[in-house]
Amino acid sequence: MSRITLSRFLIEQQRKAGTLPPELRLLIETVGRACKAISFSVNKGALAGILGEAGTGNIQGEAQKKLDVIANDFLLDANEWGGSLAAMASEEMELPYHIPGEYPKGEYLLMFDPLDGSSNIDVNISVGTIFSILRCPAGIDHPTPEAFLQPGTEQVAAGYTVYGPQTMLVLTFGSGVHGFTLDREHGSFVLTHSDMVVPESTQEFAINMSNMRHWEAPVKRYVDEMLAGKTGPLGKDYNMRWVASMVAEVHRIITRGGIFMYPKDARDPDKAGKLRIMYEGNPMAFIIEQAGGAATNGYQRIMEIQPKGLHERVAVFLGSKEEVERITAYHQQS
Ligand code: AHG
Ligand code: MN
Ligand code: MN
Repeated sequence: MSRITLSRFLIEQQRKAGTLPPELRLLIETVGRACKAISFSVNKGALAGILGEAGTGNIQGEAQKKLDVIANDFLLDANEWGGSLAAMASEEMELPYHIPGEYPKGEYLLMFDPLDGSSNIDVNISVGTIFSILRCPAGIDHPTPEAFLQPGTEQVAAGYTVYGPQTMLVLTFGSGVHGFTLDREHGSFVLTHSDMVVPESTQEFAINMSNMRHWEAPVKRYVDEMLAGKTGPLGKDYNMRWVASMVAEVHRIITRGGIFMYPKDARDPDKAGKLRIMYEGNPMAFIIEQAGGAATNGYQRIMEIQPKGLHERVAVFLGSKEEVERITAYHQQS
């Protein structure tokens, strides 16, 4: 059988189910094209002079890497002229990006973390791009941040691209999760992983253990129990991984199971966590739930939270259902 490229897959979905409107299909393809360009830059690394600091900071007070800025520009350039979008928002921009006047506007809002796991770029470890697509509320011509502040359940599509040993685009538009591997010679994403499913139980966890002293009681309890292994209350030995690229952790979890945690902690009590709900928490929650896993902030589904700011933070517990349900129960009991 011939290979199914991303374009062909999307066109067939559009015909088959009628659940994928042509403008949304076009938008997803365009995001995929931008990710290809990012992938080629990531791969060239020092040869293209893209490593190191940009010398600027973003609205989150984080120093930007050159590649944070380059990836953001690729996504803006690829998506501004296609006609599917009303506006875009990004980790790297304080306010929404408006579609320039010379281009037609469309009905969707695109949000992205252009480069996730920036601290890994210079050391040649996997990084990624995360995106989330919403509908622009009716009657809004010039979307302000408020237009974006919809709960994750309103997402019409979400995905990530992991730039690892292979570049893979993993996508959902509400009917399962589909994975595509970039074929560099042909320049196209090819369907290699259809209907990805997160195993229900796991013995692998991911958390930045160096923050242990700042954690809240339910997280301490849960990690202590996992560390106690076979003879502890959970009755099994666990393994730990921490890549420090959420995209890479989610990709591992969707492939072989696991739980990823970035809890709220006492380092900055005003913040609900480190990760941002609009372009990290929600899209990853959508993908994980569509793959049969779960995603909560310890108390409720991430996707049911009503966001109040474009760059609002959220505590994240996601992955294999049994474990996410356990840590969520520990929060609710405390
Ligand atoms: P970003 O590079 O987009 O700012 O995101 C980095 C995030 C996430 O990908 C990762 O899980 C986490 O930050 C790593 O945090 P630590 O520095 O605490 O390891
Ligand atoms: Mn990120
Ligand atoms: Mn980022």
